[in-house]
Amino acid sequence: MTHSEIREKFLKFFESKGHKIVPSSSLLPTDPSVLFTTAGMQQFKPYYTGEADAMKDFGSLNTVSIQKSMRTSDIDEVGDESHLTFFEMLGNFSFGGYWKEAAIAWAHDFITRELGLKIDYVTVFEGLPSANVPADEESELLWKEVDPKIIVKRASIQDNFWGPTGSEGPCGPTTEIYVDGVEIWNIVFNEFFYPGSREELLNGKSDKNLENLKTAGIDTGMGLERLAMVVQRKKNIFETDLFEPIINSLPNHFDLRTKRVIADHSRAMVFLASEGVTPSNKEQGYVMRRLMRRIMALNISNDIIDQVINTYASRYPELLVRRNEILTVYSEELNKFNKTLRNGLNELKRLEAVDAHSAFKLYESFGLPYELIKDISKDKAKSLTREAFDEEFKKHQEKSRAGAEKKFGGHGLILDTGELKAGNEEELKKATRLHTATHLLHAALRKVLGAEVHQAGSDITPERLRFDFNFTRKLTPEEIKKIEDLANEAVKKDYKVTKEEMAYEDALRSGALAFFRLKYPPKVNVYSVGDFSKELCGGPHVSSTSEVGKIKIVKEEAVSAGVRRIRAIVE
Ligand code: GLY
Repeated sequence: MTHSEIREKFLKFFESKGHKIVPSSSLLPTDPSVLFTTAGMQQFKPYYTGEADAMKDFGSLNTVSIQKSMRTSDIDEVGDESHLTFFEMLGNFSFGGYWKEAAIAWAHDFITRELGLKIDYVTVFEGLPSANVPADEESELLWKEVDPKIIVKRASIQDNFWGPTGSEGPCGPTTEIYVDGVEIWNIVFNEFFYPGSREELLNGKSDKNLENLKTAGIDTGMGLERLAMVVQRKKNIFETDLFEPIINSLPNHFDLRTKRVIADHSRAMVFLASEGVTPSNKEQGYVMRRLMRRIMALNISNDIIDQVINTYASRYPELLVRRNEILTVYSEELNKFNKTLRNGLNELKRLEAVDAHSAFKLYESFGLPYELIKDISKDKAKSLTREAFDEEFKKHQEKSRAGAEKKFGGHGLILDTGELKAGNEEELKKATRLHTATHLLHAALRKVLGAEVHQAGSDITPERLRFDFNFTRKLTPEEIKKIEDLANEAVKKDYKVTKEEMAYEDALRSGALAFFRLKYPPKVNVYSVGDFSKELCGGPHVSSTSEVGKIKIVKEEAVSAGVRRIRAIVE
């Protein structure tokens, strides 16, 4: 049975039992307390809590889905027989439609009759007396009813209690099915709501209590990769038809573990890119960068992307539609990476031992992610752990936040926009003048070359500004002079620079220029220079334009096809 046939079988089976087929939600959840969608139930949270009405939205109290999911907790284990970052999750859900009896009977039917597998044993919850949750004897009896010979084991809250995901949510005891020694299906009886995180629930020290859920319901999760492994009688997930074509396309000089890492990371990368995520130093983008750079250090060509797309295109046609965007994300990151990689590798070679501090320095200066440092330096980084590295990362973030507040008088300005670099008060003053000069030049460029000109990048040091913009040809000396003159006239007019906080949408509507980023906060700052310029920006700026001084464009050049760059100084 192919993986596509397993998917279809699952959906059809539950459709025939009165479930509405619901498409996968995005890998990027609406819940801001989690980075990625980690389970099928996440999109259904409001139906358990009673905030949304399943009958109204689905015409049924029962749904079935195949959810794109991503878990980063096991990132260091990827390469062994079973761990993954990206995976697909099969799940059936009910919001008050059916309860344990049907959930257990259908699960048994699907595994034994539809797939022809033999269940080794099942587990049920042993109970949690301290929270007044009894052992799940009901499920034990129900399993015995469907198969008197079945082995039922009891398990603790660590293994047989699901949720909550994120900072709060539905949760409850589970029953789990084991086939060929591996857990393949987790059936959750969502009967509680916990107003805190799973960690708080497990450490038992919080004064928060389990509450009864508005609509007790069913939530199940079965990883497609593991299921395919047992159905296809393979020794591990990487031998299934979900991975084989990808793995087989890789050069033979890689060992098996490395091939698995490449296969896993490239799948995750393709799906993240298809949802508009781009590599960066923050949040989802940071995870993506780590995954991508690990592959890139191994000189993997972008053919791997087509291998992944081909495996998934029939179920996820959006991958084909976005193929060019995905390839562009890959090649842009590769360019950035190549620039710094060689220097980073040289530095790494010079070090005798790599501890968390030096590893973080390598990441900060050369973009070498933790995994890569571990991979390359082998014995030299024996004592380096992920925890220690993350600790350094956190320390650094706290430091730069504190630094930003000090420098900008606590205006909450962001230093890590990549736009402004300053080491002390003196430098900051100069960089601030250059920053306002950047806005003036941007406005002047548009007045001279046309309003379709927009920013493609900006970088400011205390010595100079650098501004990239989309334009297809070299500027004439006359144009450059005109732009410079216009900007300097604005300096002479001594316009006030004012800042206004507004909603992102309102800022765009007011005509403020915005440099496209994946995500803006709901409230943004708009800086206006008289009626000469208006831009969405993190600041800082001078208070009136005469402080900028005389602006001089010192260079105009091409960056890439369709993008020009100017460098300018202030005197
Ligand atoms: N929500 C059930 C699972 O992910 O296993």
